[in-house]
Amino acid sequence: MFTSSQGVNGTSTLRNSKKKTVKKYISAITVPLPVSPVVRVRQSGRTPKDRMDIFAGQMEDPAAAFSVAISGLVFADFAKRIRSDTGLPLKSQQVQEALAILYPKISEICNHLKPQRANCKSSYPYRMPDGSCNNPSTGVLKGAALTAQARFVDPEYGDPDNLGHIPRIYGKNGKLTSPREISNVVLSTTEDFRSPKSTRYTLTLVHFAQFVDHDVIKTPATKIPNSTANDIFNEQKIEDCDEDCVKPKEHCFPFKIPDDHFQNDFGTKCMHFVRNKPAPSEWCLPGPRHQLNERTAFLDLSATYGSSQIRVNELRQWEGGRLNASKDDLLPDGPPVGDCLPDQVCFNSGDYRFQEIPMLTVIHIVFLREHNRIAGILSNLNRHWNDEKLFQESKKILTGIYQHIIYNEFLPLLVGRDMAYGSNLMSSKTAHRNSFSAYADPSTLNEFGAAAFRFGHSLVGRHIGSMNRNFKIKASEEMRRDFFNNDKMRDLNIYGPTRMGRWMAETLMRKRDRFISDQIRNHLFETKFDGPSDGFDLASLNIQRGRDHGIPGYNKLRMYCGLYPSNVFNTGPMGFRDHDHETVKKLSQVYRHTDDVDLFVGGITEKPSCNGEILGPTFKCLIAQQFQRYKEGDRFFYENNFQNTGFTLEQLNDIKKQTFAGIYCRSLKLKTIQPKVFEKGGTNRRLHCDSIPSPDLNLWKEN
Ligand code: HEM
Repeated sequence: MFTSSQGVNGTSTLRNSKKKTVKKYISAITVPLPVSPVVRVRQSGRTPKDRMDIFAGQMEDPAAAFSVAISGLVFADFAKRIRSDTGLPLKSQQVQEALAILYPKISEICNHLKPQRANCKSSYPYRMPDGSCNNPSTGVLKGAALTAQARFVDPEYGDPDNLGHIPRIYGKNGKLTSPREISNVVLSTTEDFRSPKSTRYTLTLVHFAQFVDHDVIKTPATKIPNSTANDIFNEQKIEDCDEDCVKPKEHCFPFKIPDDHFQNDFGTKCMHFVRNKPAPSEWCLPGPRHQLNERTAFLDLSATYGSSQIRVNELRQWEGGRLNASKDDLLPDGPPVGDCLPDQVCFNSGDYRFQEIPMLTVIHIVFLREHNRIAGILSNLNRHWNDEKLFQESKKILTGIYQHIIYNEFLPLLVGRDMAYGSNLMSSKTAHRNSFSAYADPSTLNEFGAAAFRFGHSLVGRHIGSMNRNFKIKASEEMRRDFFNNDKMRDLNIYGPTRMGRWMAETLMRKRDRFISDQIRNHLFETKFDGPSDGFDLASLNIQRGRDHGIPGYNKLRMYCGLYPSNVFNTGPMGFRDHDHETVKKLSQVYRHTDDVDLFVGGITEKPSCNGEILGPTFKCLIAQQFQRYKEGDRFFYENNFQNTGFTLEQLNDIKKQTFAGIYCRSLKLKTIQPKVFEKGGTNRRLHCDSIPSPDLNLWKEN
């Protein structure tokens, strides 16, 4: 069968041998490793900053991620040293000649440090957890976990060689404005004005979108080797990046908080911000800094199953093909130090960001329960199947349904039906349709993760809530009290997944516009257990993250999409033609040049392309192209007609009848639901759950 060097028993041996070689290599190379800063002892998990560090820095497979990041640093630091030692530009002939001599050595180090991948066998019918072996060409790891994010366009960093030692800090006419100031002027709501609600889309769409985001991308923050520990993989977080905004510490990129009645009440002048880990390019070629993706890029439910063999092994029950669950069929209990509040028992799931807000936890519970339901039925139908077969087949079926929902229910709402058809996103009504190309690159793109798919931050409202079986509000409270609070899921009488799921299906989301709820713009990662504290501003973080990753301005991406750039601050044909007048006025207050407008800001402030649609043209274009790549670069895409890995015609046609409402009903044990659960109103009235399609698992019965 399939042999994997990352298998259950191979894992620790691999780690130990890696440790030795990593140490050997690190002592052999002359590139200095960053010096660890002074560690301030603090009760963990108590402040928004502590929570952010756990949220951004937790790793699924720390050893592997460490190795990859170090190989990214090798290049970055090497190039930096050459520049400072010789004073010559990187492109100069002398430096290029020196590089040509040194390149084989550096490349060997870089390749060696990368995680070992499975030995691919084309006959193996299932996906690998880390997404390797998806592409049949030997050694092609596009879309696999722990590879670099691809890019639509070249990065623009702040250092002369554009390598990324310095993030994008300059615009056409000098230094860019602080993200917090941009957020205050362009993206803020007030006590008297809040973004209106959508008239059509529900909160289920918002948190399904968030789940999809966590399935395809996790960009880890930089951590550094712990100089006091004897274990090279024992990394520590970078503390207190908010100490100095003018001369930040290495790997920090804090930004100034201008005179700001909200933040300054807590004496905060500078917002903590850690740069994301560097990643080597696919073939270890020297070049600008890229960022790592810890998830597989494939739409493979890695948010449920994990992106590494280690995580899948931890989550499986190893009996009947099931995943672990805890009391009341909730997610299983997780490790002691997790992303939940102090004194709580954290849950566990494939992606560890799921406790960030209880509505997202609901979506994780929905998929966990559906997996176990499918596994239970399959084990009755096929008594001769062992745990492995039951697990893999259940995962394959659920992933197929999930992909069908994304391409046929979710994306047409997001990018509009015309673009969904035009970009080859929609499936055929019935039958197979091959769209795989070994040349397509399914990697998650940097501009997608750092800007376009963050559109969801504008849909987030102010509350979390629950509804009883008559769809009447049972409870509701401000969101800022409940970041990382998993009590809401355990408390089945007032909240719990069913009541909250009902509330999400019934409650309309905020319109996608330029306004970001103060719950995440001023209070991000505060909780009810804190006194008043200086929460983060997610809108500012998005802007700064784009600069950290060297994402070029909005105009560059518009041109990539074949849209006119904006050359003047007005709404005329030479200006911001997809914006309204008021917004352009605000943009002109914080940007000195139209080319400086950050991609997140330019995209989130666009008007929707058509009335009733969610996104404006630039984000629509980037998101449609990304999902096209996810489909065309995935050998296991559910519609493909490949013997061994695909579905039979009958099975596929049955999958094509499934909707998210069905999974939602079954998993949350609802009585009624509207058949299009991402939408509300019109003819989409609530129906009895029995009349919503459920997969006919008899089609998987083997004689
Ligand atoms: C209450 C809801 C949400 C909270 C509290 C939240 C919070 C966050 C935070 C703290 C980050 C990291 C920011 C940084 O330092 O770069 C982030 C990243 C991100 N968020 Fe959200 N988010 C929420 C909802 C959503 C939704 C609904 C979507 C999509 C529709 C979304 C898409 C993303 C994406 C694509 C990233 C980048 C992920 C990565 O690169 O690893 N988020 N979010």
